[in-house]
Amino acid sequence: MAASRLTRPLDYVHDVLGLRLSSGDFAIDATAGNGHDTLFLARCVAPAGHVLAVDVQARAVERTRERLREAGLEQSVDVVEGSHADLGRLTAPDRRGKVRAVMFNLGFLPGSDKDVITQPQTTIAALEAAADLLAPGGLLSIVVYSGHDGGAAEAAAVLAWCESRDAGRWHVVQYRQLNRPNNPPWAIIAEKMAESEKAIGRTKGND
Ligand SMILES: C[S@@+](CC[C@H](N)C(=O)[O-])C[C@H]1O[C@@H](n2cnc3c(N)ncnc32)[C@H](O)[C@@H]1O
Repeated sequence: MAASRLTRPLDYVHDVLGLRLSSGDFAIDATAGNGHDTLFLARCVAPAGHVLAVDVQARAVERTRERLREAGLEQSVDVVEGSHADLGRLTAPDRRGKVRAVMFNLGFLPGSDKDVITQPQTTIAALEAAADLLAPGGLLSIVVYSGHDGGAAEAAAVLAWCESRDAGRWHVVQYRQLNRPNNPPWAIIAEKMAESEKAIGRTKGND
């Protein structure tokens, strides 16, 4: 049976971020991989905005640069080889606190032999950094895969981190197929509340 768009958490993330981002925004792809998400972000924020894309693997950096070149969007993106645990340092000081979206697509580089996977400790450090970098009203998205070796431990750590966000400061939602076996991927989107929302968030439970 072909996968429906409804069942793909990454499509959900693209739909939500696509509605929020516009030309002139600054966004971060914390796991550049083959560059699909970086290209998506670049299309959302170009021509006036900018993207920082990060990956620990040189081949991921090269594939992402190549994809951007083919699309004519290389001027809109800095692709950096490094760990997302260093996102704070890798983000220009004048952009800190002004980031409109940070995307994480965890796991391993598709098409690789899974020798490099995202790890709980660095992923949590990166989520902390991303949370600090976001502008009020900014979005943090995480697509989580738990089927590979090490994936379940990372998924548990990510879920615990998300569940522990202060409900007076964050809206946090999970998008997950409930009736499919074999650890289907799921997504979380966390929205950092704007100042005006914080007082409401502390007093209301359901809306
Ligand atoms: C599922 S892939 C990302 C897919 C990508 N967003 C795309 O559109 O093709 C996960 C990526 O995370 C990268 N990665 C693993 N650990 C990392 C780290 N500490 N910092 C940044 N990237 C990391 C891997 O090298 C891999 O390319």
